[in-house]
Order: sequence, then C-alpha cells, then structure tokens
Amino acid sequence: MSEPKSPVTSRRRFLANTTHVAGASALAGIALPHVHAAGTDTIQIALVGCGGRGTGAAVNALSVTNGPVKLVAMADVIPAKLNSSYDKLKTQFAGLVDVPPERRFLGYDAFRQAMDSMKAGDVVILGTPPAFRWVQFTHAIDKGLHCFMEKPVTVDGPTTRRMLALGEQATKKNLKVGVGLMVRHCRARQELHKRIQAGEIGDIIAMRGYRMGQGGGTCGPRPDGVSELQHQIQHFHAFLWASGGVFSDYYIHQIDECSWMKNSWPVEAHAMGGRHYRGNSVDQNLDSYHVEYVYADGSRLYFDGRNMKGCRDEFASYAHGSKGSAVISTLSHAPGMTRIYKGQNIPRVLSRKDLPLAADPNLVWSFPQPEKSPYQWEWDDLTDAIRQDKPYNEVKRGAEASLVASMGRMAAHTGQIITFDQMLNCPHEFAPNVDKLTLDGPPPILAGPDGKYAIPEPGIKTDREY
Ligand SMILES: NC(=O)c1ccc[n+]([C@@H]2O[C@H](COP(=O)([O-])OP(=O)(O)OC[C@H]3O[C@@H](n4cnc5c(N)ncnc54)[C@H](O)[C@@H]3O)[C@@H](O)[C@H]2O)c1
Repeated sequence: MSEPKSPVTSRRRFLANTTHVAGASALAGIALPHVHAAGTDTIQIALVGCGGRGTGAAVNALSVTNGPVKLVAMADVIPAKLNSSYDKLKTQFAGLVDVPPERRFLGYDAFRQAMDSMKAGDVVILGTPPAFRWVQFTHAIDKGLHCFMEKPVTVDGPTTRRMLALGEQATKKNLKVGVGLMVRHCRARQELHKRIQAGEIGDIIAMRGYRMGQGGGTCGPRPDGVSELQHQIQHFHAFLWASGGVFSDYYIHQIDECSWMKNSWPVEAHAMGGRHYRGNSVDQNLDSYHVEYVYADGSRLYFDGRNMKGCRDEFASYAHGSKGSAVISTLSHAPGMTRIYKGQNIPRVLSRKDLPLAADPNLVWSFPQPEKSPYQWEWDDLTDAIRQDKPYNEVKRGAEASLVASMGRMAAHTGQIITFDQMLNCPHEFAPNVDKLTLDGPPPILAGPDGKYAIPEPGIKTDREY
C-alpha cells in the first residue's frame, strides 16, 4: 500500500517547537516491547474508551485467528459504559476476557492505570473521543505498548504536530500502531487502488464524496445532575474540541480514501456550509458542508456533507479519470463493492433495494462479493505485524488525514481558503488543557449565559473556528 505524498515542508520546525512530547522523547528506548513468537504467545489487550467503537474494536481484536489474544484491562470515565461493554465482551468471548474488578478502571486517569497494569509488548485500544488521543498515546509509548487508535487522531493544527512527533517516537521504539481508517485495509479498495495506479481509469481529474444523512452531532441542553464536561464527552460529536465535530469525525474516511486513490493530500480547501435547523441543539456543527479540495496537479475532490432530516441521503465516493471512472464506496464503508466503469456514467445506488446491481454494459471490473469486514482486516493486519515483527505504524497518515479533514472544516467554518500548511501551522489549539481534565473540573469550552456554545461564523470569525 503506497502512502499519499505529503506536502509538509515545514513540519520539522514545528516538531522541534513542540513541548508536550518531551516525556515520550526522554523515555524513548526504555520499556522496549518484547517480540511475540508467531502464533504462540498470547497478545494481551487493554480497552480504553468502552463505547460503541472501542467495544467493536475489542470484538475484532478477540476474533483474530493468527494466534491467542486476551482482554485483560478496561478503562472509561462512565461506569455504565464500562459495565455494558464488559458484559457484552464476556458474553461473546467468555474464555478470552479476563478483566477482574481490580483491572476495571474509572475516571480521567483510568487510562493510565489500565496501561500501568500491562507489560511492554501488550496492546492498548484507544476508543475515546479524539481529543484524548495524544495524551493517551503519549502514555502508551512511555509504557512500550503497541496501540490501536480510532480516527480522527487529531482535531487541530497543534495536536497534529504533536501526534506526528509521537508517531516518530513510537517507530523508534518499534511499536506497532494501527489507526482506525479501516478502509485502508479493505481488500476491495486495495485492489481498486492497484488498478488505478496501473492506469485503468487514466489520470484522476475529479473525485466526489457524499456523506449525507438524516442527522448527527446535535446535543440538547444539559440535564440536571450531569456535569458540563460529562455532557460534552457524552455528545463529543457536538463539540469541536472533543472530536473536530461531524466534519472531522464522519467525513475523514472518504476524504482519506479519495486522497489515497489520488496518492496525495490536497494542498488547499475552499468550502461553505450553513446552519439552519439545529433547533435547541447547543452543538457547534453546521447542517451542511460543501468542500472543494484542490490537489497539487489542479485536480479536485468535491465533498458534500449534510446532516438534515427529510433530504435525500447518499454515502458514497467516486473517482473520475481521463479514461474511465471508479466507485470507491457504495452505501457506507463496508462492503467496499469497488467497481470500474468505462466512461463517466456511474449508476447511482441509493439504497440496499438497488442491490444486487443491475447488469451495466459500461462495467469493466468489480470486486467479488461477499467481502470480509475491513474492521476485521485492520486487526488481522495489526496482530500479524506484531507477531511477525514487521514495521507497522499508521500514525503519520492518520495524523495527515485528520489534518486534511480539519483543513476542509476550517475552510467552511471561517469562509476562507485554507492550505495544508496553514492548517498545520494554525496556532488555535481547541483544548490545551485536555491532559488535565478531572471529573468535576471545567470543560475546555464553557456555555454562555443562554446555555449555548460559540459557533462558527464564516466571514466574521476568519482566523479561528469559534
Ligand atoms: N472507524 C470507524 O468507522 C468508527 C466508527 C465509530 C466511531 N469511531 C471512532 O471511535 C471513537 C469513539 O467513538 P464511539 O462511537 O465509540 O463513541 P462512544 O461515546 O460510544 O464511546 C466513547 C467512550 O469513551 C469514553 N471516554 C470518554 N472520554 C474518556 C477518557 N478521557 N478516558 C476514558 N474513557 C473516556 C466514553 O465514556 C465512552 O464510553 C471516536 O474517535 C470515533 O470517531 C470510528
């Protein structure tokens, strides 16, 4: 799998200026992981962030068939989340879940306690909201733990610079790190990528991506008895500091998969959006986004995101080349159902009712169905790399994909053209105190007297998003 070329030219200067990675840097070389004998040693896993995806990642981890795996520690800030995840995993994988009460940790320091209960060479899953990624990854590196972290891995410029530096620290310690851009592990997308590189659709001139659904990222007023921080964490898609909002959290996959097919990251973004139907939601998102991403050769990715009831949904990505066209995603992330067409007429597939696809005289190639889930492939690949001691670190491309998502989001939120380098160098860190949060302490953003939070105002706030 080749990686998109990065237009980062001034990154090292910023890495040199970053201070938060000093701990990991000073500890580089200590707690080196031991190498797992292929197929024999048990890989021990800790789950940090026991919500929907963290639990799903644990299911995938415990389902690998390349050697024994065991879940031994769990951490969350909300007891009910940890308990329901534990119950689900224990029911599904009784013999593979060994997490007694003393290895179930709660609170904002729970991630540290869970990792401290592991030994170098074990694996930690980071399934918390993206804001916590760099904090928890720093500790994983210090402890010599391999890591699987969900996307996005950063939400703004400063955290991207920090994460890039941390990724380099992890490589120096021979840690294997997977990032939850699972589409990169989808065999159908890998085959399509190979065919596009071989010139089967000619030069890519334009790409289109659509993530248009009935809603997302809203957050009602805070109920009594719930702290402001806990309310924000529970609705992390609503708050830019926690997730980068729906833009970063939802759209990153398709922006990443298109850039992968193009083999480069866009150099600038020009975007717009509107906020009309948020009702009493206190979130910071817009209802709709349109972004024009520009690549160095002048080709474009047009991406539409919408969170609006009553409108036509679409969840797909396409590439148009000088000789033909291709479908990168159909109806969601999985199955891939990748296809290549002669010419530019790609039939719309708007619902499962349109499957199986009707015969099409322009269809040149399609990946055979059924397909194995990319969420499983990413764990097969990570555990294989750990067992075979292969180089494996997805942090750089995960951080750059997160940055490119932030670049489109900032362009929409400010109404300005934002370049890759401007985004990377942007000084606005949404939650500089995220490593110091406590259960009862203040959150990174406070509600105004009306209970609402600052929202983007394109054209008015032009150098920061809120
Ligand atoms: N790859 C994918 O397709 C995919 C799909 C869904 C979610 N995700 C990603 O997974 C991450 C989690 O999303 P989710 O849908 O599982 O959310 P979720 O709310 O279901 O789970 C997040 C969990 O983390 C816990 N948590 C929050 N802050 C914490 C902290 N500081 N320490 C410990 N625990 C903490 C929460 O209590 C919750 O249990 C996000 O980054 C999201 O983008 C990826």
